[in-house]
Amino acid sequence: MSYTTAAATSRHSNKIPPRNSIKCWNNQIHPQEKQTIMSFKRTLYAIATFIPGVSRLRAKGTGGTDSARYCYSVWLRHLVMARKSGLNTAPKVVAELGPGDSIGIGLAALISGCAEYYALDIVEHADVRRNVKIFDELVALFAKESPIPGEDEWPKVRPKLTDYRFPSDILDKDRLRLALEPRRIDRIRRSILNYRSPDSVISYQAPWHEADIIKQGSVDMIYSQAVLEHVDDLRKTYHAMYEWLNQSGYISHTIDFKCHGTADEWNGHWRYSGFVWAIMRGKRAYFINREPLSTHLGMLQQQGFTIVCNTRTISESRYSSDQLAPKFRTLSGDDLVTSDTFIQGVKSVTDAA
Ligand SMILES: C[S@@+](CC[C@H](N)C(=O)[O-])C[C@H]1O[C@@H](n2cnc3c(N)ncnc32)[C@H](O)[C@@H]1O
Repeated sequence: MSYTTAAATSRHSNKIPPRNSIKCWNNQIHPQEKQTIMSFKRTLYAIATFIPGVSRLRAKGTGGTDSARYCYSVWLRHLVMARKSGLNTAPKVVAELGPGDSIGIGLAALISGCAEYYALDIVEHADVRRNVKIFDELVALFAKESPIPGEDEWPKVRPKLTDYRFPSDILDKDRLRLALEPRRIDRIRRSILNYRSPDSVISYQAPWHEADIIKQGSVDMIYSQAVLEHVDDLRKTYHAMYEWLNQSGYISHTIDFKCHGTADEWNGHWRYSGFVWAIMRGKRAYFINREPLSTHLGMLQQQGFTIVCNTRTISESRYSSDQLAPKFRTLSGDDLVTSDTFIQGVKSVTDAA
């Protein structure tokens, strides 16, 4: 989808478009005119999505999971943060929301020792050929104990770490040797090729709608990367996560609250009325839900989670809350300046008792 592609480029990578292709824009068009043209293009595309098939035709990718190094980096960041939060760094059953272009983050989880992986998306973006290619590259990265690709390569990926060396305290020699056994690697590869077969260690569901596709209390870790800001029914989704986790399980999510290319300021999406926003969404299968951090925290707490990590990125706001659309005028000062967060949470202790 065009808006996610633009957003993904700015969010995930430091890829810069070839100079010549942007030269005429920069030289001949006044910045304000450029903004007007961009807004016009966005609106035109949104309206075009009401024509059946258009959003599928324009779909160009979801973000970073078409790169093995991105998937490797994201998985290891979640794992390193789990250690920092005192959580299980050897989960056996993992589930991911919104894997996007490939199931590479989950493949990294499997290669590093997980036994079973559920991938739940709302659109079937991933395909077998890309998954296999990424898998082979991931195996090589683990075999070489490559450092975690860091801020020089993925400056906008969260969470940031203080140390990007290979986490050999988590993935020590013994764990890696067992994890990379040829028979194990071959089983994962066969699962990618035949993920619908009963002995597959991978379950890929796209679209998913109902919580009952994963057995209650069966999952050790549920994670997502740049997904929860897109989910339409957050309450249902947090409830499903709570149901899937076992009593010692945990969630690990990176959430990006920025406007994803829908406005010129990172938090300009909070200025659009509901009506304008509905037009901007058009008929896209997913968009951004515009929910701020406090909505997520409130729902997690209501559901029975205890937050053990909440690492926010603070970004300056050019707007005060009274310059936002009426629905957002009550945003707290914290929400107004929180542009992304990395959250980890466990089932509340009181609930487990
Ligand atoms: C910005 S992409 C991120 C993809 C990938 N996680 C990454 O890091 O590149 C957002 C993803 O969320 C998915 N998505 C949107 N709503 C969803 C939902 N309700 N459940 C699961 N996935 C959803 C989209 O289909 C897409 O794959």
